[in-house]
Amino acid sequence: MNHNKNSKSRAVFGTRLGLIATTVGSAVGLGNIWRFPFEAGVHGGGAFILCYVIFIFLLGVPVICCEFVLGRNSRSNYFGAVKHYSSNGYWKAGAIAGIIASLMILSFYSVVAGWTLEYLFQSLTGGLSLQSAEQFHERFTAFSTDALRPVLWTALFLLANFGILIRGVTKGIEKISNIMMPMLFVILIAFCINSLSLPGARHAMDFLFQPDFSALTPSVVLGALGQAFFSLSLGLGCLLTYASYFRKDVSLARNAVTVASLDTIVAILAGIMIFPAVFTFGMSPAAGPALVFEVLPSIFTRMEGGALWAPLFFALLVLASLTSTISMSEISITYFMEERGMTRRRATILNTLIALVFGTLCALSFGPLSNLKIFGLTIFELFDYTSSNILLPLGGMLIAIFTGWYVDRRTVRTELLGERADTPVWYRVLIFLIRFIAPAGILLVFLSALGLI
Ligand code: TRP
Repeated sequence: MNHNKNSKSRAVFGTRLGLIATTVGSAVGLGNIWRFPFEAGVHGGGAFILCYVIFIFLLGVPVICCEFVLGRNSRSNYFGAVKHYSSNGYWKAGAIAGIIASLMILSFYSVVAGWTLEYLFQSLTGGLSLQSAEQFHERFTAFSTDALRPVLWTALFLLANFGILIRGVTKGIEKISNIMMPMLFVILIAFCINSLSLPGARHAMDFLFQPDFSALTPSVVLGALGQAFFSLSLGLGCLLTYASYFRKDVSLARNAVTVASLDTIVAILAGIMIFPAVFTFGMSPAAGPALVFEVLPSIFTRMEGGALWAPLFFALLVLASLTSTISMSEISITYFMEERGMTRRRATILNTLIALVFGTLCALSFGPLSNLKIFGLTIFELFDYTSSNILLPLGGMLIAIFTGWYVDRRTVRTELLGERADTPVWYRVLIFLIRFIAPAGILLVFLSALGLI
């Protein structure tokens, strides 16, 4: 529609560091610090983590490259980008599914970010000075099942998200990310060192890094695939939308590898921080979404200067969540603006309202709505499962097929290689991964999870 007009006036990220920091800012978030440890715990540790790392590099990196190519080349929103290369309605429907998935993720993600705000508040007001693991468990249960507090925190978080988005992406985010990502990194390493001195550290290392292949069921493998895509912000046009703000002179493939590597390191660090405490304090690694919120306070109370570390950590986690929700909101906002002709203000309001309604339902599904089950899952679980384990990998598969088979080869080549005349080996490998391995790999994981192979 008004693609050309928009592409001229589109903003561009300023520096290479800013570009990496914002993309890593999108990737690093609750997915690494909250979802990765709890999924690894539920799925038995080592074997899950091994699959996760393989999926990140074998399937994740190629699909990141695809999103980067499509975004920077079309300089457009997800739907607009697909439309740019194909008029086929099925592809466009795929883009719309991605946009809906982004709103689903934003909804449940904001609930967990709201929990983080509560814990930031508690850590500042002395509410985390309990002692035993049971007390922390009871504290979290009482809070998360409450009918009001989680909803209020979710709303507050969405308001902060709104406040940044309304100013436009390239203004504030680049600066926040540049400072925050390195800080989060340093503080995580400090926590890991502390956790490694706990008596349960040995047990935790075995749990994390000694794969027990008998635990490898199809649903574990699907969980690892979903987690890989979730953590990389991959499969629904998020990185595509960010890449539409990239300058022409940055190397897409190199950035894809950098983002994937940093994201994986942060997730592994989160595991090293959490699991020694889990085994030391006799908690269950399979506690699910509550895991990190019950374990972290126990770590802080036993740490020297914990009263200072705790608020710092939760504040950084809130910021890391914000840089992620900003990126996922941008998917629907750019769609509303560029395809539906809305102003940024209107588009941002609509995005926030949708997330507020569904976020409230997700927040309540731990308490008043906990008996409302669809396919045996609460609303929160349904949103999380459907988007992460089904829509993201499926979207990633379509993006790989689209880029590998439908988009003009020269376009893909120019975006990835520039004007270079020779064809390096890594490029051949990458194209092979995009055309064959990524689609087939994802399909195989699905078929096995469905019990068909
Ligand atoms: N990757 C982010 C995290 O790990 C979450 C996220 C941001 C995301 N944007 C996304 C997940 C787009 C899926 C799709 O916290």
